[in-house]
Amino acid sequence: MKNNRWSSAFQNVEVELELNIESKNIIGEIPSNLNGTLYRIGPAFFGYNQELVNHWFDGDGMVVSINIKDKKVFFRNKFVKTKGYLEEKKEKKSLYRGVFGSKKTDSSLKNFWKLKNVSNTNIFFFNNKLLSLWEAGLPYHLDALSLETLSIENFNNQLNESDFFSAHPKYDPFNQKIITFSSKPGMIKSILKIMEIDSNNIINSYSIDLKGFLFVHDFAITKEYYIFYQAPISFNPVPYIIGLKGVGQCIKKKEMKIGTFVLINKITNKITSIPGNNEFIFHHVNAYQKDKNIYIDSVYYSDLEILNMEFNDPKPLKNKPMLKRCILNIESKKSTFDNYTNDAMEFGTVHPNYYGKLNKYIWLACLNNKNQEYFNCIRRINISSYKIKDCNFSENHYIGEPIFVSKNNNNELAGFILTMVWDGENKISYLSIIDAEEMIEICKIILPIIIPHQIHGFWHCF
Ligand SMILES: [Fe+2]
Repeated sequence: MKNNRWSSAFQNVEVELELNIESKNIIGEIPSNLNGTLYRIGPAFFGYNQELVNHWFDGDGMVVSINIKDKKVFFRNKFVKTKGYLEEKKEKKSLYRGVFGSKKTDSSLKNFWKLKNVSNTNIFFFNNKLLSLWEAGLPYHLDALSLETLSIENFNNQLNESDFFSAHPKYDPFNQKIITFSSKPGMIKSILKIMEIDSNNIINSYSIDLKGFLFVHDFAITKEYYIFYQAPISFNPVPYIIGLKGVGQCIKKKEMKIGTFVLINKITNKITSIPGNNEFIFHHVNAYQKDKNIYIDSVYYSDLEILNMEFNDPKPLKNKPMLKRCILNIESKKSTFDNYTNDAMEFGTVHPNYYGKLNKYIWLACLNNKNQEYFNCIRRINISSYKIKDCNFSENHYIGEPIFVSKNNNNELAGFILTMVWDGENKISYLSIIDAEEMIEICKIILPIIIPHQIHGFWHCF
């Protein structure tokens, strides 16, 4: 077990469980109107025989489902049984390289340039089909109840084994479609492919050529546009080809350049390009259009140190990810930026009914205590008054992505925030349920196993 309080959560999970959580492990009262399933995913196996991954993003994906019904809780966890996971489990050694520099521990050249699809980043319902996602490979289809892996998903052979598939699909509330993308980066030119998907098929798709290297993790939707951000980065493939570095570590920020917002008109597919700034974006929070302006809230990184975080000694980030608002004027093709607060923040969310529309509130994971290593509170920001309200956690309790569960579709504040927490003092994982309006924790559910820090997830109502 690692000594660092935040990173002590990074332990190999060795069990797959299905069990009721006993009432003695529920502190506080589960709200009677909270019924559904929380799905979460993240890396949870980090290597064999002390030969561990180079970066936690290279760990094998594990899904957790926490089913809440009538104040009772049922817990499940299962690894995504990817090809690489099964092969390595059989051999008890690493047979593939990871995107973030993890090395093969067998000495053969087999798979030397093949990256392991760890399927560890996000999980999403494509209509009734549950898929686990990793952006440099195909999704895996999971049974929504048992979490068993059923197959790799290629949408009736519409995708090839080498195709990419984003980890951030979105439901477009304006046309009731599920939209996702893939990006094929190239040195001179990159290809961005937009796809509309149902359970079994890619119903519609089109590709756009973009000049230069493209690494895009997320996008935003407004009434008329899909919005992407092409950050000012470059890629040097040589250290990867000769086996010195992972793909992720060969990406560098171009210090003197600025990025570009790429707005794709949903009807005409016409592109409008608007200059951005010198930073990188992993996640957008929300965007909406008013007249000729698009208002987009995103989390900006001034460098890419997160891609080089070492698994054996992960240090807190020196440069904080910052929530900023950018206003894009479609006519003048100009952008203006504004900061919200100076605390580090990530994983922003809004009431789902306000997605793509004018919202007033954002909830995020926030670091507001300089003695803590990573996010230690859930912050709500009123984005018209800039007023903040924090729900703070105890010392050495580290939180993950907040998930908003709506209680009332017409009241933006009416809901619960769910977040997974690592108690680095007592070495336990728990689910925290927070009243989104009062910003007070109302219940915690102690989980039966240690859950390493996860990445994304969602709430599915009954
Ligand atoms: Fe993400």
